[in-house]
Amino acid sequence: MAEPVGKGGLSDPVGKPGASPGDRGIGVGIFGLGTVGTAVWRLLAEGGPHLARQIGAPLRVRRVVVRHPDRPRGVTLPPGVLSTDPEAILGDPEIDIVVEVMGGLEPAREYVATALARGKSVVTANKELISYHGHELLSLAAAAGVDLFWEASVGGGIPIIRPLREHLAPGRLRRLLGIVNGTTNFILTRMAREGQTFAAALADAQAAGYAEADPRADVEGHDAARKLAILAGMAFHAQLSPDEIPTVGITGITPVEIAWGQGRGLTLKLVAQAERLPDGTVMARVEPAFLPLDHPLARVEGAMNAIWVEGVEIGETLFYGPGAGGLPTATAVIADLLEAARHRRLGIALSRPWAEGRARVAQEPPPRRYYLRLEPGAVGSGWPEPLAAPVSPVAARVGGATSPREAVAARTEPAGDRPGPGPGPAGAAWARQEAAPGLAPAAQIRALAERFRQHGLPVVSAEPLPGGGCILEVAEVTQQEMAAALAKASDVVGLAIQIPILG
Ligand SMILES: NC(=O)c1ccc[n+]([C@@H]2O[C@H](COP(=O)([O-])OP(=O)(O)OC[C@H]3O[C@@H](n4cnc5c(N)ncnc54)[C@H](OP(=O)(O)O)[C@@H]3O)[C@@H](O)[C@H]2O)c1
Repeated sequence: MAEPVGKGGLSDPVGKPGASPGDRGIGVGIFGLGTVGTAVWRLLAEGGPHLARQIGAPLRVRRVVVRHPDRPRGVTLPPGVLSTDPEAILGDPEIDIVVEVMGGLEPAREYVATALARGKSVVTANKELISYHGHELLSLAAAAGVDLFWEASVGGGIPIIRPLREHLAPGRLRRLLGIVNGTTNFILTRMAREGQTFAAALADAQAAGYAEADPRADVEGHDAARKLAILAGMAFHAQLSPDEIPTVGITGITPVEIAWGQGRGLTLKLVAQAERLPDGTVMARVEPAFLPLDHPLARVEGAMNAIWVEGVEIGETLFYGPGAGGLPTATAVIADLLEAARHRRLGIALSRPWAEGRARVAQEPPPRRYYLRLEPGAVGSGWPEPLAAPVSPVAARVGGATSPREAVAARTEPAGDRPGPGPGPAGAAWARQEAAPGLAPAAQIRALAERFRQHGLPVVSAEPLPGGGCILEVAEVTQQEMAAALAKASDVVGLAIQIPILG
């Protein structure tokens, strides 16, 4: 039998087998001793007496299970505590609470389900596990009369799960917007502050330890989608899978987008958003979005995270803090551990699934404003014509030119009484003629903007880019309307990127 570990309250002997949790302390088993697990170990060891006072009994870590027992970890565990056998935790009747900080779907799901079924409460930091299997595991916990808590799975050290579970639960929530991935926020902040490309900012994020060697889950938005599935599900009392959330990452963002926003008092963030629409459906998306500088999320910089929640009764609330990192995340894990331990002492368990049924997922967001970067299409290759020199503030920043030229941005005037292209081949011919090389870029851009207006796209402004292509700003439009207009102009232009402008 392994000795209990840690200083203070953690170093007390194990109580008699079969004694109640109050007599022998609360037995804890930990799966994983990596970034978070090591920090959990440290905080438990340092905070023993203080934590024991809060619970009314000491916490005793009896076993820690890892894959590679010989890996250096920067913490020293007493002999016999470290194991590679999951049964060392799952089969120990004196382990009351299991902490799962190993990550991944399997075998984490299997270990957590087994622990719950065997009457152990579970605390997890695993967003993948909760976003895909939260409901089945919470049902298991409720049936077994034990707790399952997951505060650390979203926002690292930021308290957001418990507020959703408790403080915000009495009211009706309308909308939430979050910056829930520190890696992408670090990269976008570097691009904005230093004018870096995505690739250079990603390399810096990796060097600084803010991005994994394989950064795909972060930069492609999947990590944020998992967190949003948890947040939106809890906020709107519905089950939502990450796979149901349209997800766009930041890999297509160039300094052109960043500079365009900066010129208009907008900042570009990877935003996870969810909203209960008037028809009762839930709209949830993860995508890069422009936010005005006075938006509560606009000043969230570097690796920080924040979640803004709007409710009918409560109005607006903002939760801000470190979204990752060993110690901040371990703080959230231990907060859950304290709650689960208090419940064990009291002989109660309060975990219930957060919804009865699946969410009705909205097919598309409400009409929104958009930024569109267009590139030359099949027929109109070379159109808009490459510029000899940048002509707009964006072009000047991006192309490194000396001075913005007059046509500044060739921002288009209202349509006026110019002839319209109409749909079909004639329209295409008209557009090609309008777009013919030799026209000044400003005239080309005006022609393009006009053509889009004819197709129902409310173009507000347009400007050419060096090297061809252009930027359009579009007033509120549905995605369907925008896709239809772009399809009608696909002979001349192709869509490089579309970014909503949120209010
Ligand atoms: N890092 C953060 O800032 C952060 C923030 C919020 C949430 N989280 C979540 O916290 C969890 C842990 O993250 P982390 O960054 O601490 O991960 P990590 O550094 O990669 O550590 C994972 C630990 O789990 C162990 N492990 C992995 N698979 C195992 C298996 N099949 N059996 C036994 N042990 C296994 C590993 O053992 P070996 O060491 O022997 O390989 C390692 O000790 C993840 O769910 C993550 O999403 C992390």
